[in-house]
Amino acid sequence: MSGNKAVVYNGVGKVAVKDIGYPDLVLRDGPGVNPLNVGRKCEHGVILKVVTTNICGSDQHMVRGRTTAPEGLVLGHEITGEVIEVGRDVEYIKKGDLVSVPFNIACGRCQMCKEQKTHVCLNVNPDRPGSAYGYVDMGGWVGGQSEYVMVPYADFQLLKFPDKEQAMEKILDLTMLSDIFPTGFHGAYSAGVKSGSTVYVAGAGPVGLAAAHSAQLLGASAVIVGDLNPERLAQARSFGCETIDLSQHDNLGEQIEQILGEPVVDAAVDCVGFEAHGHGHGHTEASATVLNAIMDVTQVGGRLGIPGLYVTGDPGGVDEDAKIGSLKIRFGLGWAKAHTFVTGQTPVMKYHRGLMKMILHGKAQIAKAVNATLISIDEAPNGYADFDKGAAKKFVIDPHGSVRR
Ligand SMILES: NC(=O)c1ccc[n+]([C@@H]2O[C@H](COP(=O)([O-])OP(=O)(O)OC[C@H]3O[C@@H](n4cnc5c(N)ncnc54)[C@H](O)[C@@H]3O)[C@@H](O)[C@H]2O)c1
Ligand SMILES: [Zn+2]
Ligand SMILES: [Zn+2]
Repeated sequence: MSGNKAVVYNGVGKVAVKDIGYPDLVLRDGPGVNPLNVGRKCEHGVILKVVTTNICGSDQHMVRGRTTAPEGLVLGHEITGEVIEVGRDVEYIKKGDLVSVPFNIACGRCQMCKEQKTHVCLNVNPDRPGSAYGYVDMGGWVGGQSEYVMVPYADFQLLKFPDKEQAMEKILDLTMLSDIFPTGFHGAYSAGVKSGSTVYVAGAGPVGLAAAHSAQLLGASAVIVGDLNPERLAQARSFGCETIDLSQHDNLGEQIEQILGEPVVDAAVDCVGFEAHGHGHGHTEASATVLNAIMDVTQVGGRLGIPGLYVTGDPGGVDEDAKIGSLKIRFGLGWAKAHTFVTGQTPVMKYHRGLMKMILHGKAQIAKAVNATLISIDEAPNGYADFDKGAAKKFVIDPHGSVRR
């Protein structure tokens, strides 16, 4: 085996499918690989034949040129696959296992990993704590929108599906365990959603839809999703959410009042991030919009789940402040309301096993909620373009054509 087709960032607005060569159990030099990570041996790792790998809004930040991602970076952090090779130091994961890969790479040996904070592992990224496959400033671990990928720390990280045949039946749901289902769930859970909660979810992209479905699973009495994209709002309504079209209305509190009879919710989740637009007609980018809006509408003493991504450097930022990720947030309001803010990458491993069981027992319908849509790896550039235009779909790449259509 020598070839390995992969989806590669090819400059602003462009991705291409290229052969990157079959991986081995070492992190080799390449675009975006931190020099301190070059040559890193991964006998604790495995090679996966990728079964599904999803396109994410996080990838789009890079492809839109809103990060310092270098050209040639191999994309893809949402990976599900079959183990076809195991490293010398892997004890329990076996060839043939079908597994979900948490998008956060974590060693399982550092203080943070021992405290279940696998999203800020101290040993995998020389730039800063925390890492991910195929992502800028994350150490250079090669992305998995490819036919084959190397996954380190396999025994610690991989979630093995108990029954391969059953898993392939539900693969479009299970593929969401590598990121967006845990991320949406973490957003809702860390916002304190419980039985009876009223919840506002900003953003009806895949993460917002996953947060909305998670809020339902956690027992919310009403879930309201806001976006500026009518097609995505219709998708949210398809599984029982209330919606607000923010391209038509600039006062979120008033809209919430029309639905709930009061302009406040118990919990709110930001599933938009730094590329947020302002509310109302003629809206343009205004990065602090969602953070300010959720402080405004969340009950005093409430919690704000913030999975939406905020960056420390944004070459496409609208002004000098935005270029260093400095936003105009009305923090005094959050302070006065005694809000709790929960930010950062999602610690996927905290949630993925429980959510897998909810899928396998038919309790969660995440593929339906996010409108999972299968494409081939050659269709990935079109998938990126459609997703960028706001398609109400979560694109799932099937690099080997192994999923039943
Ligand atoms: N924390 C994590 O670990 C984690 C994991 C996955 C994704 N993310 C981040 O979550 C965010 C959402 O991901 P996605 O894949 O759904 O992205 P997406 O780009 O598909 O969705 C974002 C949606 O927000 C909408 N939007 C823009 N401004 C808005 C506003 N003011 N109010 C409400 N909606 C608004 C857009 O129209 C779009 O539909 C991204 O920033 C992504 O990077 C974070
Ligand atoms: Zn993702
Ligand atoms: Zn660690």
